[in-house]
Amino acid sequence: MRKNTKKITELVLKAARKARQEINDEPEPNLTKHIKWPVECIVGPGLEGAIACESKIGYVNGTKGCLIYRGYDIFDLCAYSTYEEVSYLLLRGSLPTASQLKVFKKELVDCRNVPNTLRLLFNFPVEEMNPMAALRIGVNLMRQEFTYVDQDDSSLAEVDIGTDEDSIPMETVPRGGKRAIYEFKIRQRDKKLKLLKNKLKTAVGYESCFHLISGVASIAAAIVRIQQGHFPIDPDPSLSHAANLIYMMTGKKPSPEEERIMDIMLILHADHGMNASTFAAMVVASTLSDIYLSIGSGIAALNGPLHGGANERVLHMLREIGDVKNVQSWYKNARKKKRKIMGFGHRVYKAYDPRARILSPLAGYLAKNNEESSSLFQISQSLEKEVTSTLGIEKNIFPNVDFYSGIVYHALGILPRFFTPMFAVSRVAGWTARVKEYLGNNRIFRPRAMYIGPFNKQYVPIEERGNKP
Ligand code: CMC
Repeated sequence: MRKNTKKITELVLKAARKARQEINDEPEPNLTKHIKWPVECIVGPGLEGAIACESKIGYVNGTKGCLIYRGYDIFDLCAYSTYEEVSYLLLRGSLPTASQLKVFKKELVDCRNVPNTLRLLFNFPVEEMNPMAALRIGVNLMRQEFTYVDQDDSSLAEVDIGTDEDSIPMETVPRGGKRAIYEFKIRQRDKKLKLLKNKLKTAVGYESCFHLISGVASIAAAIVRIQQGHFPIDPDPSLSHAANLIYMMTGKKPSPEEERIMDIMLILHADHGMNASTFAAMVVASTLSDIYLSIGSGIAALNGPLHGGANERVLHMLREIGDVKNVQSWYKNARKKKRKIMGFGHRVYKAYDPRARILSPLAGYLAKNNEESSSLFQISQSLEKEVTSTLGIEKNIFPNVDFYSGIVYHALGILPRFFTPMFAVSRVAGWTARVKEYLGNNRIFRPRAMYIGPFNKQYVPIEERGNKP
């Protein structure tokens, strides 16, 4: 994994050195202590500043521009770790030993095959759907395998899940699934059933998290292939999570450099505090709904252009600018029209996003091999200068993770409409870790709204309300 990727590690370490010279990573005291409920905090619109819970999973220091997972600096994790290790860290709380990692990797590999889910998913017109909508449905369908136990009834762990499979109406030829559906049937059914029966015993525990981490990647890859007119392909158990993701999307094993950069993308996007999608997943989980539906909500929230959907918009924006010589006039016009510049600004970061610090040199490095990526990278560099020298000074607006991630995905050969699903594939580690942590001390989320409507209005019968259209 590490061979031929020294240059990439050097780029990450160089970005780390620069960050450490420019900022100190001292934590903000008011955001890194135990809560004594009820907590006093100043809350702005969009729950800005609200404290929802305690967490040991990760911390975003927005004042300084630092990000840690379970105490480890994001720069170190990107330089030395892997997505599998980081997922273990987020879920279990500590870095794995070699033998723990081996077992964990095997568990993830065992969860990569999601044939029933894909079979059900291909009943929908996947080739025509928004990929995030398809992914969300796919995740909700993954739950099918656990239907009988996700209400936390361990006595049902013995239920024969074969019934579940037999209930699928195979006579119906699905739209969009014609080619794939029968292919997925030829599985080692017995092996799969045994595996699932073991999983069923802990369907609300770690097993569902592993199932989701691997399953979301397999579903996303299948969606990518279907939408590009190809058959989905089987996972390759010999490959890492990152390499297998690329392989399942492209049918080609990635080069060590491609694998390493995808791995860094996965690490960088794995968790990020109480962002909108994580909060959405946690709100659903807090009702004691199940983890599959919770992650489905996370996917729905991530899709929006103010959140994970921004990466795709950045690429469209850079293409719209078209050439580095157009940047100044484009930006002037955008400011005049009060347009939001995609990939800039952040609710929490009022400093340079450390993830963008890592992605910018990686985007530049990869872009060298591709003419369009190279041009997009030049435009992005020039736009960054314009924005940081104006909005940066006026409003502390700097590039966020989505500004450079699109160029990296583009250089890896991934189409813009699949950028946000890639984000979801990674974030599922953070979503599951945070949902699990919150459920350990659950209280249903239930804020209030300030009522500002009228009181004491007299009910008027419909026939007396006039005819206003
Ligand atoms: N371009 C221009 N002005 C901006 C931008 C931007 N990208 N972001 C914020 N501002 C201005 C905004 O107009 C407002 O100005 P004023 O106070 O004069 O009205 C001020 O900065 C505060 O902005 P806000 O929208 O109230 O800030 P927020 O905390 O509610 O929103 C944000 C944060 C990320 C949604 C916002 O910065 C934005 O829309 N950025 C562009 C979309 C984007 O890149 N999203 C990815 C976020 S990072 C990864 C992720 O979460 O997925």
